[in-house]
Amino acid sequence: MLQKISSHEEYTNAFNESINNPNDFWGKVAHSFSWKKKWDKVFSGGFEKADYKWFEGGRLNITENCLDRYLESIGDKTAIIWEPNNPSEKNRQLTYRELHEEVCRFSNALEKTGVNKGDTVCLYMPMIPELAIAMLACARIGAIHSIVFGGFSAQSIADRIKDAECKWMITADGCFRGDKPLYLKKIVDEALEQCPSIQKSIVFNRSNFDCNMKPGRDLWWADIIKDCTTTHDSAIMESEDPLFILYTSGSTGKPKGVLHTIAGYMVYAAYTFLNVFQYKPEQIYWCTADIGWVTGHSYIVYGPLLNGATTLIYEGVPQFPDWGRWWDIIDKYKVNIFYTAPTAIRSLEAQGTNWLKRKSLLSLSVLGTVGEPINEEAWVWYFKNIGKENCPIVDTWWQTETGGILISSLAGITPTKPSYATLPLPGVEPIIVDANGNEIIEPIAEGNLCIRKSWPGQARTVYKDHKRFIQTYFTTYPGKYFTGDGCKRDSNGNYRITGRVDDVINVSGHRIGTAEVENAINEHSEVYESAVVGFPHAIKGQGIFAFVSCQPHPNDLILFKQEVLNIVAKIIGPFAKPDRIEIVSGLPKTRSGKIMRRILRKIAEGEFDKVGDVTTLLNPEVVEEIIKKVKT
Ligand code: WTA
Repeated sequence: MLQKISSHEEYTNAFNESINNPNDFWGKVAHSFSWKKKWDKVFSGGFEKADYKWFEGGRLNITENCLDRYLESIGDKTAIIWEPNNPSEKNRQLTYRELHEEVCRFSNALEKTGVNKGDTVCLYMPMIPELAIAMLACARIGAIHSIVFGGFSAQSIADRIKDAECKWMITADGCFRGDKPLYLKKIVDEALEQCPSIQKSIVFNRSNFDCNMKPGRDLWWADIIKDCTTTHDSAIMESEDPLFILYTSGSTGKPKGVLHTIAGYMVYAAYTFLNVFQYKPEQIYWCTADIGWVTGHSYIVYGPLLNGATTLIYEGVPQFPDWGRWWDIIDKYKVNIFYTAPTAIRSLEAQGTNWLKRKSLLSLSVLGTVGEPINEEAWVWYFKNIGKENCPIVDTWWQTETGGILISSLAGITPTKPSYATLPLPGVEPIIVDANGNEIIEPIAEGNLCIRKSWPGQARTVYKDHKRFIQTYFTTYPGKYFTGDGCKRDSNGNYRITGRVDDVINVSGHRIGTAEVENAINEHSEVYESAVVGFPHAIKGQGIFAFVSCQPHPNDLILFKQEVLNIVAKIIGPFAKPDRIEIVSGLPKTRSGKIMRRILRKIAEGEFDKVGDVTTLLNPEVVEEIIKKVKT
């Protein structure tokens, strides 16, 4: 069993050991897993070439660690509780034994379909147990899963399939999110028109929606598992073999396929789950994220299952059939650990406490947040109304690239402080650098957040683009991993993450690159150019503000704005639609033609007197005009 930190003193000792003696520290942690062959070296490589490796020479299968090793001891324990979108539909529960059987059966089905070790498989699925089963089956046979969040458009799916060179697709007919149907198969069909690399597309029948099954390409899930047995010899994988690709947005260009490898990710996801949430064997754990984002990968599927935990998967939305649904689910299953995003907390807070009447919530013992900075007001509301002032809140800071949580308190073990993620986990050495790239040694500091050394869960590369990986994360501050976040440190060493310092905006916890939205908007035939920036939004954390210059000027502004929204929804997905569009005669530019986003950011934030000196601009007059427009 993994070692659990159970006092502040143990945390300090573990942290010190992890920094002074990382190989011993992580070697000890890794020993608690099941290996076909132990590693030769705990760690090698470094940041310069981003060639770091963990547990090299080891052989294992992550699903044996999630499932097989638990069959004897806790085979009858519930692994997954599934709560459907519609509360009157029957729920499902799968024990470790049943989940193992389903994963084995689907592994056999995948192999029979022709999926090989090393192939990439694209998944576009609702929040149903089959999504977890499909990802685990990929991992079991040594295929690489690339999950695309169900809110992405056909174009985004196609881009990801092409980039990851996927040969296989796994999807479902569709599902309901609240009372809205989502026709996943139709969206996939549109995507696949552009993707001849896809050999077979496996479709799970979730909702009995009409599906146009393309002969020779589309297969029903139920048909391919029919003759498959429920035992399967898992593929023997190398520690550094790829486990999954997950696309995430950056400052420039198209989204990056962040690649994680097996052993390091496994050790890190498991260790952080156990210690941050202080999971106890009988507890019910619920993370409300979508499995299509990294939070779902690490803390709905892998982290909990690696610890033999019971993890709840909810298919629907918080407001269906009413805003009391989440609290009903907590009471129904006596959820002990609840992990969600600040944006959700703010939306629920905005509905008032009436929805909490007649809900007990007394089963809760730990609350968590992730995805964006949590403002103090939302933190206090969560603490008082949901946790009844009895549950520690773990504010967990991490990223797709980090694989698991890097900065967070350990529930009930280390102190919390509203709006602070607080202390680094063992193995993590945060550093704050100033504008010149110098490390700030003084305890109280503010600047850009970097990490000094590798930790096992760190992403290994950007798929097929190692140069871009090095360029994005390791060149801004040579020798350090640059997170893209700004942060502050207090005199006790607590970290407060203040938000992105690059051209990435965080909308309702979704990471969106401003360049992606601009590229989509620029597809409109009347758009000459555009600039997108974030602005503070009461519920979403940040909203998307688009400044658009047109040629010719559109006649019907309402229609034009609607068309822009449609284009963004079509190219990226509905969640990336701008909250505000302002049509301007030009964008502020330097004499060399660079758009001055800093000025637009200030304007979007309503800080009109802070735009600074504009006299050196190529077109200073547009600034006044834009301010006037935004003010009215
Ligand atoms: C932000 C999500 C403040 C941050 C796991 C980071 C946070 C980006 C927090 C990564 C937090 C995540 N406090 N900000 N607790 N957690 N972030 O890749 O800006 O979707 O860089 O991973 O979310 O988003 P990603």
